[in-house]
Amino acid sequence: MRPVLSLIQFDPTYRLCLHSQSTKTKSSYQSSFSRLLKTSNTSTTNSTPSSSDTSSMSSATSIVSSVVGSIVTIVVVIAIIKCIRKNRMQARNTSMQTTSVSVVKDETNINMVTIERFLADIVKERPVRFTTQNIIDFTQNFEQKLGSGGFGIVYKGQLPNGVQIAVKVLHKTQDKRAEEQFMAEIGTIGRTYHINLVQLYGFCFDDTLKALIYEYMEKGSLDSYLFDENQKLKWEKLHEIAIGTAKGIRYLHEECQKKIVHYDIKPGNVLLDTNFSPKVADFGLARLCDRDNSHISLTGGRGTPGYAAPELWMPYPVTHKCDVYSYGMLLFEILGRRRNLILSQAESQEWFPRWIWHKFEGGELDGVMTNCRIEHSNRDKAERMCKVALWCVQYQPDTRPSMNSVVRMLEGEEEIIAPTNPFQYMMSFDGSSSQWSESRGYSTSTTTATNESEANSLIHQNQQ
Ligand SMILES: Nc1ncnc2c1ncn2[C@@H]1O[C@H](COP(=O)(O)OP(=O)(O)OP(=O)(O)O)[C@@H](O)[C@H]1O
Ligand SMILES: [Mg+2]
Repeated sequence: MRPVLSLIQFDPTYRLCLHSQSTKTKSSYQSSFSRLLKTSNTSTTNSTPSSSDTSSMSSATSIVSSVVGSIVTIVVVIAIIKCIRKNRMQARNTSMQTTSVSVVKDETNINMVTIERFLADIVKERPVRFTTQNIIDFTQNFEQKLGSGGFGIVYKGQLPNGVQIAVKVLHKTQDKRAEEQFMAEIGTIGRTYHINLVQLYGFCFDDTLKALIYEYMEKGSLDSYLFDENQKLKWEKLHEIAIGTAKGIRYLHEECQKKIVHYDIKPGNVLLDTNFSPKVADFGLARLCDRDNSHISLTGGRGTPGYAAPELWMPYPVTHKCDVYSYGMLLFEILGRRRNLILSQAESQEWFPRWIWHKFEGGELDGVMTNCRIEHSNRDKAERMCKVALWCVQYQPDTRPSMNSVVRMLEGEEEIIAPTNPFQYMMSFDGSSSQWSESRGYSTSTTTATNESEANSLIHQNQQ
């Protein structure tokens, strides 16, 4: 048994040689292996046999040594495989630790080395960690405000290499989110790539400042084009934007590594690049931080009134289908190039989605086309859009289509069967006040609003 003992004693040396990353590793294995064999031979020859037993001993010795040799070979091979695996695991862990975030330590100067590392990090799919001073430098002390929303204020900025950025400075909340949890969410958002998603370049997680650094979208958000009389986009372009947006959401739900529910699909979160190509913004934020009170829904602060699915304000389970609902509401607004709720409109058209349902139910989709000023050449696409929107806003989440189906239906690749009434559930409210029921359907954010005017004023507040 001595040779095997020798092997056990030998093992540490052997590990050491595996840990060294020299190219001599293979020869080290070989020399170690021959050392081992030598040990085995030596041990065998050290035991002195009597002369009469020489021939039987020599054949026994050769059997023993060949058995021992085979055992040794097997054990060594297993040990080598184990060590290689272990080494690979260690290498992978180290690289994961370094890829999750990389820190820009230089407080005052962003030199070329930093920039090169930053660009390399982007290529390697990792968001970069910046300091507060970096953010101050990039935004020239928060000089140009782009807008604000439920999570914070957005400023325009520029990296030292000229790349334009949008910096979202997150509200300080009571929620003392742990750094690791923040990093984990950032890791997910930062590794999510699609042509229809706004890219996260980096973040800041200092005591004084928490911020997210995004690619800058030159044309701003879709709402300014949909609802501003002077900035109308052609309907064909809007149709493309609708499909691009659906593809972005489809990626979040069905194609990226970790499924992401957006919770806040709305025209303000569809940003447009120089060519008016759409990119969905703010995905992953719902898990990353709390919203402020301006967008609050009493069931946990998710979604924006008018776009939030019923299950977000009622005690029902919430799934990715809440995004499908919000997308449906967005689709109505794209179709009509108007807000879904305009209280100054004739009462029948006050809440656009329900007006469309009534038209569809009565076989009068032509009236919708005329009302929305949709040219003849676009009517097929617009009709499809109508039906898809009605499917998306179904009350039961399971009845809503997947985003993959949405894309296919909009592109004319999937047949669209006639939608069922998505607003059936509102009938129970209709007895007391039809406007209240529509407000509930639109606003959806409050359970404290006990009357029609209170509900309407909430909707007004949230529309501003
Ligand atoms: N990456 C960006 N590039 C250019 N402008 C941006 C970018 N991100 C945000 N903005 C601008 O800042 C505004 C405010 O964005 P923000 O996301 O804070 O608010 P919101 O989308 O209205 O609400 P929410 O908090 O629900 O997302 C947007 O309407 C848009 O005009
Ligand atoms: Mg936003």
